[in-house]
Amino acid sequence: MRVGVLTGGGDCPGLNAVIRAVTKSLLRQGPCEVLGIADGFEGLMGPNPRVLPLGWEQVSGIAHLGGTILGTSNSANPLKDAATLAQVGQNVQALGLQAVVAIGGDGTMSLAYGLEQVGLRCVGVPKTIDNDIAACERSFGFDTAVDTVTEAIRRLESTAYSHHRVMIVETMGRHAGWLALEAGIAGSADVILLPEIDYNLQVVIDHCRAREQRQRYTIICIGEGAKERGAGLTVRERVEHSPDPVRLGGVAHVLRERLQPHLKSEVRATVLGHVQRGGEPTPSDRVLAARFGHHAAQLVLQGQFGRMVTLQQGEIGSVEIARVANTQRKVPLDHGLLALARDIGVCLGEAPAA
Ligand code: F6P
Repeated sequence: MRVGVLTGGGDCPGLNAVIRAVTKSLLRQGPCEVLGIADGFEGLMGPNPRVLPLGWEQVSGIAHLGGTILGTSNSANPLKDAATLAQVGQNVQALGLQAVVAIGGDGTMSLAYGLEQVGLRCVGVPKTIDNDIAACERSFGFDTAVDTVTEAIRRLESTAYSHHRVMIVETMGRHAGWLALEAGIAGSADVILLPEIDYNLQVVIDHCRAREQRQRYTIICIGEGAKERGAGLTVRERVEHSPDPVRLGGVAHVLRERLQPHLKSEVRATVLGHVQRGGEPTPSDRVLAARFGHHAAQLVLQGQFGRMVTLQQGEIGSVEIARVANTQRKVPLDHGLLALARDIGVCLGEAPAA
């Protein structure tokens, strides 16, 4: 059996550990031939598909590396139009691919689902630092990103202390606040603002002012998709024809401008950006990635296509890709970490109950 492996969407720590585990499992348990597809679905588009054979050697010694040895794309859209789709179909036939393991986020799962409809047999592996894939309680890459943000908050804290400043740190995460929430708690942020809870500016001002009376500094951790009540999203740019057309970023600067006139302390903003996606995966992410890759290979070998690997209640399993395509897992408003945050005095920007 000849199986393609690709990584789609934004990269994240742990992708290489998945590529290694899925390839080695297929080679050993198959036997299968494995082809790495370059730059996500882009490698299957156009008249000259770009693939490289993956053998034991190509995937050895890569589990600890950040990024993806295959390259990725978050703008490639094989479903763009009928001609593109037909070319992808031709390429799949010419390459003799009997299945594709697509490692990616919700965008990649939606594309995999679309391609399933035209006969490409896919197995999905969820990845994202945002931890927002439906039906999967933890995606690899998230733990590493939480680590990176927590470290950044710790570094900002000492300079905030020295200068009596309010420091705003902006995390990625798109429309889900998992990263801001977990890193905010881990980094002991004083204010945590999430996309799931539109914040009340006056509440944030009051919290910062109260801290000015008794503390030297304040740390605000804000997810890039957060917004003030009644305001819109802060969009960095729009990308036409992309499965992910809206790029977020810069909400920390917006908040800084809104807060500064009301506070004595100087307010500064730090947008962490892509440092959150880079670097070596934590050991925990490497293990999760290896488990996901191994399970994806089992699904291929058992002929269970159209399914995405998941982690639910600590157990590896799978769900139909159709169930997760075009959906996102947000922080539920009754999540225990939100209750914990409130109980330890963290401001979530919520207006007090009437
Ligand atoms: O989905 C992962 C992610 O890192 C988001 O948190 C972020 O909004 C987006 O990708 C950034 O994408 P890009 O690399 O295209 O700017």
